[in-house]
Amino acid sequence: MPKRPAKKAKAPGSIEFPNGEKVRILITQRRIQKRIAELGQQIRADFPGEPLHLVGVLKGAVFFLSDLARSIPGDVSFDMIAVSSYGKNSQSSGQVKLTRDLDSSIENRTIIVVEDILDTGLTLRYLLRIFEQRKPKQMRVAVLLDKPERRIAPVQANYIGFKIPNEFVVGYGLDYAERYRNLPDVAVLSLPDNHAIQH
Ligand code: IMP
Ligand code: MG
Repeated sequence: MPKRPAKKAKAPGSIEFPNGEKVRILITQRRIQKRIAELGQQIRADFPGEPLHLVGVLKGAVFFLSDLARSIPGDVSFDMIAVSSYGKNSQSSGQVKLTRDLDSSIENRTIIVVEDILDTGLTLRYLLRIFEQRKPKQMRVAVLLDKPERRIAPVQANYIGFKIPNEFVVGYGLDYAERYRNLPDVAVLSLPDNHAIQH
């Protein structure tokens, strides 16, 4: 009998792409959906009977926003805002630019800011300052992921899907150079030959 070629041992849930980049699943789509269902119930329990206006941050939060909106019972509306960091290194500059504003006013409304990940906190600090000036009735923050180790600005979220270690993740809306947003799970990205990820 001819011997079969030895298969390369692979960690379960690990995928290598033709460009040499690898992803390893950290949080499965099933766990994500289960957690979002819990968050939706928790948010509604905290604001019974209150119209809630979700404000999603494009583009990373699109899937989280759409799933969270559907998991909160009752009166829910939503809007989106887009920001970008000045230059490549948002960490050193901490400068954020508004590239798309909200469609409607948030004055005197109960808003929930919906973000994909709380990392250094600089993006949310910038956004929360802008929103405060617009005088919402109440404001809360929901993030799918929280990387507390990387925090620079002392921003905290009221609703957190998952706390994760200091690793660069993609999928479920999160990107690396605009790619991998469409992965249904959240996965840790590694580049070929241990290239460092710039973000
Ligand atoms: P912060 O301003 O450092 O808190 O980061 C906010 C933005 O950086 C997020 O909305 C993401 O777009 C991006 N980001 C931070 N960490 C990651 C990651 O691990 N993967 C993908 N994007 C990330
Ligand atoms: Mg991004």
